[in-house]
Amino acid sequence: MTDIAGIRTFIDRFVQPDMRGALLPLLHALQEEFGHIPSQAVPAIAETLNLSRAEVHGVISFYPDFRTEPPARHVIKLCRAESCQSRGGAAIEGELARHLGVAMGHARKDGQVALEPVYCLGLCAIGPNALVDGRPVARIDEAQVEAIAREVEA
Ligand code: FES
Repeated sequence: MTDIAGIRTFIDRFVQPDMRGALLPLLHALQEEFGHIPSQAVPAIAETLNLSRAEVHGVISFYPDFRTEPPARHVIKLCRAESCQSRGGAAIEGELARHLGVAMGHARKDGQVALEPVYCLGLCAIGPNALVDGRPVARIDEAQVEAIAREVEA
């Protein structure tokens, strides 16, 4: 749980008077400082920037790179773009979710691993592809799903 007083102090220090277009820079700065954008930050952001909570939440949920949960120790970014989907990406997503015990777009409750979508890694001809802690893995099949699962559980 992130301390709301610390979040409030951070926001107050970051946002300068007459600062225009502060929402995105503030969200990036909060995520860098706290590892994610905690839900309890939304009312403070909205109040400080004179926005509605819905506006702030809408921006956070629009950009996939903003996290609302603490980062997991391991992050698997699975490509969900067209070429990887046509090469069996949906089945691989299901296998990864089953082996890891986490749904796409979420971190597992123990914080060990997160499964996140990404939209094209530039390796379209050799999909389905993913990044495992930033390392590209191509032509993912069931054996590789099992290897990835073992790797992130170690
Ligand atoms: S569509 Fe997956 S890498 Fe391009």
